[in-house]
Amino acid sequence: MTTQLPPPLSPDAWERRYQEGTTRWDLGQPAPAFQSLLGAAEAPRPGAAIVLGSGRGYDALLFAQHGFDVTAVDFAPSAIQSLAEQAEAANLSLTLVQRDIFDLVPDLAGQFNYVIEHTCFCAIDPSLRPAYVQLAADLLAPQGELLAVFFTHNRGGGPPFGVSVTELHQLFEPYFEVLTLQPVANSVPSRRGEEHLGRLRRRDGFMA
Ligand SMILES: C[S@@+](CC[C@H](N)C(=O)[O-])C[C@H]1O[C@@H](n2cnc3c(N)ncnc32)[C@H](O)[C@@H]1O
Repeated sequence: MTTQLPPPLSPDAWERRYQEGTTRWDLGQPAPAFQSLLGAAEAPRPGAAIVLGSGRGYDALLFAQHGFDVTAVDFAPSAIQSLAEQAEAANLSLTLVQRDIFDLVPDLAGQFNYVIEHTCFCAIDPSLRPAYVQLAADLLAPQGELLAVFFTHNRGGGPPFGVSVTELHQLFEPYFEVLTLQPVANSVPSRRGEEHLGRLRRRDGFMA
């Protein structure tokens, strides 16, 4: 599926933000919620993981450092280039894919134990959310999990487009069992009270 994107959400628009340095979403570090998750007793075990809309890739690098076999996808060339440089400097091996996430299936269907989401869901047009849910389910192997930091702010407009916890349940439950979906306790100050960490398992009955 090749998506027709409105101008602010086109690959060129995202690339321009990287080139102009207007990347306000960029934390310069992994999401604190993922850092906590990976240090917890119930941390996900290393496996094949795909990071959607990876940006410069701090989350991708974090999961690679923890032994995951990471594929990172973004359609902005500058984001992928930055991640390639960081991976090389850290001597980490990741698979980097410069592509629209909505073009990953069927090529990569069923290949991952984890889909990693952090500020990609809030960056796509809300009309594409059902397609995103389907995509995440399609990419996962049976019993695979979506590990997500959702931006649950309630301001109008976007990007970033906010989402409510109720909407998340409605969207994802047909394809996923929601294992946890909890407020994030250690968000960066600018996102405090506006993030939820979700761990959702692909339903057994769902076939890619
Ligand atoms: C708000 S940024 C977040 C980047 C990164 N996750 C982070 O937290 O720094 C959204 C990213 O998703 C990418 N993106 C948006 N829509 C995409 C799509 N349909 N396919 C691939 N990448 C996309 C943009 O290029 C951008 O790098």
